[in-house]
Amino acid sequence: MKDNLIIPNHIGIIMDGNGRWAQERGLPRTMGHQHAVGTLKKLCIYMADCGVKYCSLYAFSTENFKRELSEVEFLMNLFISSFRKEFDFIKEKKVRVLFSGRREPLPEKVLEAMDELVEDTKDNKALTLNICLNYGSHAEIVDTTKKICEWYREGKIALGDITEDFIQKNLYQDLPPLDFVIRTSGELRLSNFMMYQASYAEFYFPKVYFPDFSCEEFDKAILEFNNRNRRFGGVK
Ligand code: IPE
Ligand code: IPE
Ligand code: MG
Repeated sequence: MKDNLIIPNHIGIIMDGNGRWAQERGLPRTMGHQHAVGTLKKLCIYMADCGVKYCSLYAFSTENFKRELSEVEFLMNLFISSFRKEFDFIKEKKVRVLFSGRREPLPEKVLEAMDELVEDTKDNKALTLNICLNYGSHAEIVDTTKKICEWYREGKIALGDITEDFIQKNLYQDLPPLDFVIRTSGELRLSNFMMYQASYAEFYFPKVYFPDFSCEEFDKAILEFNNRNRRFGGVK
């Protein structure tokens, strides 16, 4: 990474294209997911070294349960083994892990591995990794609305407390807004990823499939971010 580049405070990564990466090599789709774990590990270490503060990773959407059972089961087992074995870098790099998404209907073993990782890393102060697993922006807005209605009904908050900032803070996680969203594989859509948080994010759509998203590709993305002119509705 070149010196004096601005690193976005909160980066979102929609890790897409694992299946196509594998299919183009004559491999089963699951091999793409397997390969993506190694890519992600290198990328997280690199982001921690570059001083990225917050990164939200789209790992599994609420809609991904529509896939064949064998692929869903493979992914659930991959989550368990990755959270238990591949996240050994986390201690050294002081990475804190959070999860966003609905717990239902995730298997108990996945939930246990997630909870362990959160507990083990809760005091870490470097990169915060927010893993979006069984995540959907629509579900998040529904769940947040219900939570806030409940607080109102119990008299814990007044209507006037509900501001834009209040909603942002009471989504699944209290994180700053997204500055930069990267979606690999050339698809030009959000697919239900952090819509509230991405309202003023810059978007970047590299053609590479996620398993090929190297640290050099990440550098290119950051360079592109530095060439954007963010206006937030004002004039610059
Ligand atoms: C992203 O890769 C991983 C998940 C959605 C879990 P895909 O599995 O969507 O790969 P493509 O888009 O079919 O190539
Ligand atoms: C979005 O990718 C979800 C993740 C990357 C985890 P999809 O592959 O599920 O999205 P669509 O179906 O192409 O919109
Ligand atoms: Mg896809």
